[in-house]
Amino acid sequence: MNKIDAVRPLRDAKPTGALAPVANYLAELHERISSLTAGKPADYIPELGKADPNLFGIAIATVDGQVYAVGDTEIPFTIQSVSKPFMYGYALQQHGREAVLKHVGVEPTGEAFNSIVLDEVANRPFNPMVNAGAIAVAELMRGADQAERIANMLALFSSLAGRELEIDEAVYGSELATGHRNRAIAYMMLNSGMIKRDPNEVLDLYFRQCSVNVTARDLAIMAATLANDGANPLTGAAVLETQYVRDMLSVMNSCGMYDYAGEWAYEVGMPAKSGVSGCIIAVIPGQIGICVYSPPIDQQGNSLRGIRVCQEISKEFELHAFNNRTNVRSVIRGDYLADLVRSNRLRTLAERKILAEKGRKVAVLEAQGALFFGTTEQLMRRLALLASDARYVIVDFKRVHLADSSARKLIVRAARAMAGGETELVFASMHDDGPLAPLARAFAEPENEKLVRIFRDADAALEWCEDQLLAYGAHGAAGTKFALSEINLFKGLKPEECRLLESIVQPLVFEKGDVIIREGADANLFFVLARGTVSVQIKVPGQGERKKRVASIGPGLSFGEMALLDGGKRSADIVADDKVICYGLRVQQLHELTAAHPNIMITILGNLTREFSERLRHANEEIGVLE
Ligand code: DON
Repeated sequence: MNKIDAVRPLRDAKPTGALAPVANYLAELHERISSLTAGKPADYIPELGKADPNLFGIAIATVDGQVYAVGDTEIPFTIQSVSKPFMYGYALQQHGREAVLKHVGVEPTGEAFNSIVLDEVANRPFNPMVNAGAIAVAELMRGADQAERIANMLALFSSLAGRELEIDEAVYGSELATGHRNRAIAYMMLNSGMIKRDPNEVLDLYFRQCSVNVTARDLAIMAATLANDGANPLTGAAVLETQYVRDMLSVMNSCGMYDYAGEWAYEVGMPAKSGVSGCIIAVIPGQIGICVYSPPIDQQGNSLRGIRVCQEISKEFELHAFNNRTNVRSVIRGDYLADLVRSNRLRTLAERKILAEKGRKVAVLEAQGALFFGTTEQLMRRLALLASDARYVIVDFKRVHLADSSARKLIVRAARAMAGGETELVFASMHDDGPLAPLARAFAEPENEKLVRIFRDADAALEWCEDQLLAYGAHGAAGTKFALSEINLFKGLKPEECRLLESIVQPLVFEKGDVIIREGADANLFFVLARGTVSVQIKVPGQGERKKRVASIGPGLSFGEMALLDGGKRSADIVADDKVICYGLRVQQLHELTAAHPNIMITILGNLTREFSERLRHANEEIGVLE
């Protein structure tokens, strides 16, 4: 069990400003429910009967450690039966589900917590929430001797609360002295082989676990640990495995409130557990843990105010487990075709024309949110629709933060069914070091690796698809060599003007990774690309030296041409993607040359303006499509 190494400071801010909606509501609720004075503290354990019936606290902890507390939330009381689900979770974690199921079932009894009824067919107590089941679970605590078992039990509760907890010796003594019914249950279980060890030793641990002192705040954090898939929201410690948290919540849901469990599930709809000291915890998975403490209890042993508070919170904030707020349709952020949205690869006029005609053959489907069965089914249906018209469908996972195993299975099945068909499936932003790592791993398996092409982002995927449409094949246009007269920037120049230009160009060769232009440097040279491709990279604000690739440029295009206009500083890095051949033109020399031949400059500036206006027009169109 994790020992608490460093308990982070509580993160609950003052209930003012933006925290007011929840805090104010709880304060009002606390005041309103304070007038409820029915019931009285449990007294079958004499020490519990001494509790002040007016004590009343409500605490809510969020999965990221914000605690809202009102009333007596720092007063210690014994945890009692609220210890049971956590001991059950511990047993599952230590011994596995199959082994634990041999010792205790998961069937609600509809009977009181101290019922002596046992499942004689399966030879085990019915569930771990009634005393019989909890005693069977207590026997599963690890430890070479009783002292070690007690220490392990305390370490479990301390790591769940995020602070060192202790046993209330007076309550423990009182339970030990009066717990004859529990003794009877334990001996009956020994008689039928449901427990094996000395019942007094097993009961000693059970009484001690019930006598651990906690506060309402502690229990809210323990409940929030369950809401947070087993990780304590204050300390970050992964106390319980997610798969076992689900098991704990299942039995809390069906058996946590004993003979009131059905009505509770119907009305409140939260997995919960009550203790005779007057505490109730309730869990809203993924959101919050709640604890109410108020000693007066009802016939079933549940805190009266506790029940009322949970009923009201559930209703006010629509927290019943079966309130459905999943919208599976939101998985599709949007889709578009490549005739209107192009990659960041700058293209020549001729290429742009081809892409405007053939771009409809490439569809991009943007997914978002969490992928589970319902959302993945929607996504695959949309994929099928797009695939019926497209040659390539790119699925962009950039905004997906989770893909569970059912999503993985469905996506792999879809990819297998599409393999070798009319439409090629292309994935983007499915990184193997992020939340989609399991999905990426599934497609790295030998039997799946050829099913789809995977690119780092949608832009790279789109660029590849465009290259297919332009029929460049695997090597792109990198092999093409352009003459000066074919470069967009020099279109319309007379042959003798081209020759004059040729006399001042410097042929330049760069190797892959060479920085051709550096951001911030003086701009006195511009380039036309004859072979290879280069990337335009800019610094990402707030991310130090990290660079982002915003465009790529291929043969027939120019770069650094802003130098012609303002001669200022470079606004981006230009890096060679592979071996690059380009022509460098010194701005100064061009000005000298064109003093005698003004038509050269007029033609170049005309081409430049046309190029900029075309890019602007296309950018506007893309913004329209992507909005
Ligand atoms: O077994 C007992 O008597 C107690 N120590 C625990 C009972 C309890 O909290 C029952 N739940 N409402």
